[in-house]
Amino acid sequence: MITDIEIPFLDLITPHVELEDELVDVFRHALRTAGFIGGPMVEKFEAAFAEFCDTRYAVAISSGTDALRFAIMTAGVQPGDVVLTVPNTFIATTEAISQARAIPEFVDVDEHTYNMSVVMLQRYLQKKCIRDKTGKLVSLRSGRPVTAVVPVHLYGQMADMDPILELADQYGLTVIEDACQAHGAEYFSKKKNRWIKAGSMGRAAAFSFYPGKNLGACGEAGAVTTNDPEMATRIKMLRDHGQVKKYYHDAEGYNGRLDAIQAGILSAKLPYLNGWNAQRRCRAAEYNRLLSHSDAISLPFEPSWSRGVYHLYVIRTNDRDSMMAHLREAGIGSAIHYPIPLHLQKAYAALNYNSGDFPVAESAAAEIVSLPMFPQLTATQQERVVREVAQLLSAVAQ
Ligand SMILES: Cc1ncc(COP(=O)(O)O)c(C=O)c1O
Repeated sequence: MITDIEIPFLDLITPHVELEDELVDVFRHALRTAGFIGGPMVEKFEAAFAEFCDTRYAVAISSGTDALRFAIMTAGVQPGDVVLTVPNTFIATTEAISQARAIPEFVDVDEHTYNMSVVMLQRYLQKKCIRDKTGKLVSLRSGRPVTAVVPVHLYGQMADMDPILELADQYGLTVIEDACQAHGAEYFSKKKNRWIKAGSMGRAAAFSFYPGKNLGACGEAGAVTTNDPEMATRIKMLRDHGQVKKYYHDAEGYNGRLDAIQAGILSAKLPYLNGWNAQRRCRAAEYNRLLSHSDAISLPFEPSWSRGVYHLYVIRTNDRDSMMAHLREAGIGSAIHYPIPLHLQKAYAALNYNSGDFPVAESAAAEIVSLPMFPQLTATQQERVVREVAQLLSAVAQ
């Protein structure tokens, strides 16, 4: 068991111990029915998750990365097309784009939310693209058609979707949400005059159920949500070797199915998700209250149109190394999401971006630090985290 002495960055043990009987029942049921791949446990989870996200379909996939890849592949993006996204995300976002045989290009993020900047997206579309003779939107950087945009709902907070969707509409782009960190997050759409769930605003969305996510499996898992029946059917084919029925392959596909045991585990956990998200929001509000007095750190910013689910609680300080070292010494976990923006990663050297190309993402990457955040974080643990942060800040100020 986790104690108040050591405070982990993420406690994955307590929630599983709390649900142990329900989770073991899932495993027992799978053993007794030999239902390991596909079947009723997967279908039940798909129906429940679609309902949770307010979408017509959820297609269970073996990981969030493959979910995003299959969504991009079935959304009309052709090999060699440019897909826009942000540089401050987990590499899976751009891996999925490349694995769908498209080319990632980046736009910078908003300095307050760390999500895709609408101003920078607009600037990219106006200044970094031209229309070719056929009217196609073409990137000046790569000379390739720009056909899709992947906003990432980073840290559990949705990107500013109304204007992103409007720009996408204006420029003929397909929007695919990377909702891998945002299960249950909501956005107030002025256009629709209501709160809307993450995963239901784009043509499709990808979710990850990696164990540490707000809804996590006990292994690898993901899903695509969409309202488009044709896309749902094609993604079901793609995840299963391109089969329409057993051994009838309309195309080459992938082995991207979700294990029935993971689907059963996700179904068992899903009813708790709203409660866990509410606890995360409470913990975030408490951090905000306790840390609000210090000018030396910036706290997460939640616009009035956002109800975030705090997958991560990320603060910003210009002396991050000392803060992380101090917390480590005090037995408190912390992490950086993410230390190197993707355009500066070795993996993307061939894209020829340079330091300085995305100044907002770059300066954030140098200063952000994620504090312990999980639903079972106790008030005592949280007060101790804040005490240690305050102690370091006052030592630095002296
Ligand atoms: C923003 C983002 N996109 C994509 C992924 C990929 O999900 P998975 O690890 O399930 O493949 C993750 C999860 O780590 C993520 O955080």
